[in-house]
Amino acid sequence: MKQTTDFLKMKKNEEKIAMLTAYDFPAAKQAEKAEVDMILVGDSLGMVVLGYDSTIPVTMSDMIHHAKAVKRGAPNTFIVVDMPFMSYHLSIKDTLLNACSLIQETGAHAVKVEGGDEVIEKIEALTRSGIPVVAHLGLTPQSVAVLGGYKVQGKDATAARKLIDDAKKCEEAGAFAVVLECVPQQLAKEVSASLSIPTIGIGAGPHADGQVLVYHDVLTYGVDRVPKFVKRYLNSGEMMEEGLKAYVNEVKGGLFPASEHSFNMKEEELLSLYG
Ligand code: KIV
Ligand code: NA
Repeated sequence: MKQTTDFLKMKKNEEKIAMLTAYDFPAAKQAEKAEVDMILVGDSLGMVVLGYDSTIPVTMSDMIHHAKAVKRGAPNTFIVVDMPFMSYHLSIKDTLLNACSLIQETGAHAVKVEGGDEVIEKIEALTRSGIPVVAHLGLTPQSVAVLGGYKVQGKDATAARKLIDDAKKCEEAGAFAVVLECVPQQLAKEVSASLSIPTIGIGAGPHADGQVLVYHDVLTYGVDRVPKFVKRYLNSGEMMEEGLKAYVNEVKGGLFPASEHSFNMKEEELLSLYG
């Protein structure tokens, strides 16, 4: 299993980091089999598996519940867990206790927090306490209400400069990686060049040191629309719907179960049953 220092080495060696989200046991097994470098138990689980329309309703117990299942499915992969909405804003003590629960109760290896400037002291406290931290800049979905929607961030020079400064502060505070979400590729390139820790992009172009995508987006599973930055590698949702429809039709048509799906009694037992 890789460790935080391996991700730094990968950046140095210009070896791309492949990260994928997972929220349950089967997806985690598949991710490990596919040899992803890191699994993210993202709070995107609120949207893709719980059916909320943002990540804001996701709770600590939701994250713990899902991260435990992921750990059981991928015991040999580095696992990052998102700290959910408001679990790292009230105080440092509160942040440490919540991160401790996420790590101790699930067996995950690191936490991820959204934001730059405003969470620097939390990143520092977590790292000093022995909990590795991934930072998350650009589009930070827990702030969607303040940002006014899911929009590309850092498009003008002032916002870009702020993001570069924030990324540097995250590195100085001890973060071992930084997710860049929905930023222009030119900005992701600049941030990646100016940090020694790896950047992991989502909607950030090809110059980030790694990439992360949401499991359900990659496989088109239970999602109606996907953002521009997603590549769909498989249309599994359609295949699954076909399979389920065929099952329902065969039950209704009396075609399932067939003899090969059925159990038999011995002849003499049958005779004594009716005898
Ligand atoms: O929750 C999530 O899936 C994420 C990724 C989009 C980086 O934070
Ligand atoms: Na997230």
